[in-house]
Amino acid sequence: MDLKSKIREIDNFPKEGISFKDITTLLKDGEAFKYAIDKIVDDLKDKNVDIIVGPEARGFLMGTPVAYALKAGFVPVRKPGKLPGETSKYEYDLEYGTDCLEIHKDAILKGQRVAIVDDLLATGGTIEATAKLIESLGGEVVAIEFLIELEFLNGKERLRDYHVNSLIKY
Ligand code: PRP
Repeated sequence: MDLKSKIREIDNFPKEGISFKDITTLLKDGEAFKYAIDKIVDDLKDKNVDIIVGPEARGFLMGTPVAYALKAGFVPVRKPGKLPGETSKYEYDLEYGTDCLEIHKDAILKGQRVAIVDDLLATGGTIEATAKLIESLGGEVVAIEFLIELEFLNGKERLRDYHVNSLIKY
């Protein structure tokens, strides 16, 4: 299936000069959504994954069906102040300023095998932070899966220590 044709590109959103990759047009197409999830599941099926981690918010949409299919657990990584229990935080630099992500401290046990699933790899900052959070709890990041990779931003370089798979490339 031509998954790229299911993505809607919206120019100058959210800012002038950005061509936004809108995944909602893929998600509402039942066949395309299932095909994409099955592809990710296929790449993970021999990796003995205990936990899928998905970063807020679109990582939840892609990650939970993958977890369900693999009979793995799902753990959310969220923006600050959203998780009710005790959390670990990771602050990372943006072009201007910093951002922060959190995970529940008891969400991952030492030695658990974890795969990260998200909709899009841009600079890699979100997933690098997510991987650091998982590793700080003793989890092992065995794979990172994306629906879309923006190759021209070289985010993969930042994730060079990991197995990275993406279904659609720009
Ligand atoms: C987007 C996207 C990725 C991240 C990629 O999320 O869903 O998680 O940015 O960018 P990066 O590789 O440069 O870190 P966003 O922060 O917009 O959150 P959302 O899913 O809640 O819209």
